[in-house]
Amino acid sequence: MKDQLNKILQNAKDKLEQAKDRADIEDIRVKVLGKKGELTAILKSMGQLSKDERKELGQAANKARAEIEQLINNKFEEAKEAAKALRFKKERIDVTEPGKSIGLGVKHPLTITIEEISRIFMSMGFSIAEGPEVETVFYNFDALNAGPNHPARDWSDTFYINDDVLLRTQTSPVQVRTLLKQKPPIKVISPGRCFRCDTPDATHSPMFHQVEGLVVDEGITMADLKGTLDSMAKQLFGSSTKTKFRPHHFPFTEPSAEMDVTCFKCGGKGCRVCKGSGWIEILGCGMVHPNVLKVGNVDTEKYTGFAFGMGVERIAMLKYGIDDIRLFYENDMRFIEQFK
Ligand code: DAH
Repeated sequence: MKDQLNKILQNAKDKLEQAKDRADIEDIRVKVLGKKGELTAILKSMGQLSKDERKELGQAANKARAEIEQLINNKFEEAKEAAKALRFKKERIDVTEPGKSIGLGVKHPLTITIEEISRIFMSMGFSIAEGPEVETVFYNFDALNAGPNHPARDWSDTFYINDDVLLRTQTSPVQVRTLLKQKPPIKVISPGRCFRCDTPDATHSPMFHQVEGLVVDEGITMADLKGTLDSMAKQLFGSSTKTKFRPHHFPFTEPSAEMDVTCFKCGGKGCRVCKGSGWIEILGCGMVHPNVLKVGNVDTEKYTGFAFGMGVERIAMLKYGIDDIRLFYENDMRFIEQFK
């Protein structure tokens, strides 16, 4: 039995020598000292021995046990230190390494365009008015002189929430809201989102932006409209830009017009951007229809006004040479970062 004891001791020593981590050491501990361990088995079998033999072997077994326990504890400590050293190595921080810079965001080209248009009008004394994107049929159509049979009211053109509520198809309802809130003189612009049932393609999107404008005061004439918008076009597209007004129809203005600017690419000679005509259409405008002023309780004998509305995407696409409207909404940083 003594031989067996020595063998167990030697075997435990050898195995501990090879143990790689705490799990290995724990395995050895259980195999040797555990309830069903090798050393425990020897102690259990000592009953068959004589008293003297039992005493001698008992002492030897206890000594072996103490020795193995000590070895195991040492090995545990070693493994713990090794694990700690490894962690320190892994987590080491190089304080001399240069810091990571945090990328600054950039403004979206539509934001840049809205800010530029707003800045131009604010420099002419306009202030900013706001209206809801979820609008009533009354403000979006009826109050703007677009009666029940107006084609823009068709369900296939407009996102209705119910019979009376819709996603606004234009920023023009802000005109009526402003007239009901403020007394003339009024001079506001209103940038914002609009929605129409359009299938997305290179020039259409079911969501887009407009900037609306409204001026109401005593003695406002078409000359004020032309002067204001001509000045805006020169500031937006360059001082050599010329403007031209073509008769048009909008239910909420009379007379109505569309304004073209000379192509800023070719200067009016004709190119791909202006499709050879030398002119580019950029907005709708007109003298505010008396029916609209009346909804706003404005004395139409005393006051007149003009209004205009322009598509922000269209202007941004022209200014920056963007050929697909969908690029604005894809959130592709490679596109957006070009406008730094
Ligand atoms: N709301 C018109 C549209 O979406 C644009 C417009 C035209 C606005 C003439 C106006 C205006 O204020 O006077 O096509």
